[in-house]
Amino acid sequence: MTQSTRDGFTSSFGVLLATLGSAVGLGNIWKFPSLTGSNGGAGFLLVYLLATLLVGLPLMMVETMLGRAARANAVTVFDRVTQQKGWKIIGWMGFCAALLITAFYSEVAGWVYAYIFKAATGSIATTDPKVAQEVFGKLVSDPISSLVWQWVVLGLTGSIIMMGVSKGIEAVARKLMPLLFILLVILCIRSLTLPGAMAGLEFLFKPDLSKITPAVILTALGLAFFKLSLGMGTMMTYGSYFREDQNIPATTTRVMFADLSVSLLAGMAIFPAVFAFGFAPAAGPSLVFMTIPAVFTSMPGGVIFMTTFFVLTAVASVGAILSLLEVPVAILSERYSMGRKKAAALTVLAILLMGIPAALSQSTMADVKLFGMNAFDLFDFLSSNILLPVGGILICLFVGWVYGLPQLQKQLSNDGALKNTALIKIVFFLVRFIAPLSIAIILLHGLKVI
Ligand code: PFF
Repeated sequence: MTQSTRDGFTSSFGVLLATLGSAVGLGNIWKFPSLTGSNGGAGFLLVYLLATLLVGLPLMMVETMLGRAARANAVTVFDRVTQQKGWKIIGWMGFCAALLITAFYSEVAGWVYAYIFKAATGSIATTDPKVAQEVFGKLVSDPISSLVWQWVVLGLTGSIIMMGVSKGIEAVARKLMPLLFILLVILCIRSLTLPGAMAGLEFLFKPDLSKITPAVILTALGLAFFKLSLGMGTMMTYGSYFREDQNIPATTTRVMFADLSVSLLAGMAIFPAVFAFGFAPAAGPSLVFMTIPAVFTSMPGGVIFMTTFFVLTAVASVGAILSLLEVPVAILSERYSMGRKKAAALTVLAILLMGIPAALSQSTMADVKLFGMNAFDLFDFLSSNILLPVGGILICLFVGWVYGLPQLQKQLSNDGALKNTALIKIVFFLVRFIAPLSIAIILLHGLKVI
């Protein structure tokens, strides 16, 4: 595709919604609560907030900025913005991260799809932790249903991506986000009024600093990247479809706050219920699938609300998966002059294959482990805790030391049209020094290298 015929988002509000569609997803509803629960609660949340503000937000600004400046996929961006050859590695790492993440993310999305039917038939209408655990355990330990649900997810998202950027992504992202938000608010109110709810709020908001270890900090940082789809070229690819007059700092800040509020709402819907019903906060990936149905079960009209909730969560996962697929699809179609359809088919095929060990990681392949992790956990760890932070360091170093302040000024101020010089200087300082240094230290500590 040439520069002038590249597909793009058609309105400024559409840009905001599509970018939000990439950020908001299972990360808010599933990953944020399960990691917060298994990493000690409020202390983890505190580190996550700091990482989001000091590292995530500035990185999101410069990533989308690079994409828009070059109007290209995550690899070609670096052909266009610099003469130096090596930086393209960032795009290729993003290519790998996208495949790894989608391989396990589509599995979790598959569980959500399966729960839509379980919710509708009333088979998860229970507040009993034992029964809830059994239902979830039965789903994930069945190899056939694990695989089939994953394929349904990939089939659906693969077909949407074949339809193109503005038609596919924008249309899906536009419609359903506000509904999910409203449902979360309702869920929160019910959860907070359960007897014993306060213990959950305390867990979520009263930090116990002794629980903050280097490994916890690395996980929180990894979550900050994962949440805002950073460090792997997704935001670069989306930035490449941004409008010329888009106010990047404002758009990214809005996306960050909106995304954060969805996560906090999910946390406030889940943790009070965890304590009220006697679930284990550290249950891990199953946490959401057990507690959310319990909250709905304890309110009038529970089955309808519960079914709608899983439908909307499934939709939110679609927006995120589309943005994940977009990274390899844009790279393949633009660099190898492949049609979008062929690029999408190849990408989905690769993920189908990589997804098999992830889908079977709690059944047939449960004993296949590397570094003590099954395929699902390994893909998650490799992407969130290694590839995204390393990608983040490289992007910061590139913008801070190669791209430079004058160019950044020009891009983030839309050629002087926006009066935001002071803000850009802060962003530049953060990406030149603070972000790369802190990511590097956290990474080395978290991996026990130092
Ligand atoms: N941000 C998405 C979520 O939190 O669900 C997940 C994600 C999407 C991660 C796109 C990375 C990415 F490139």
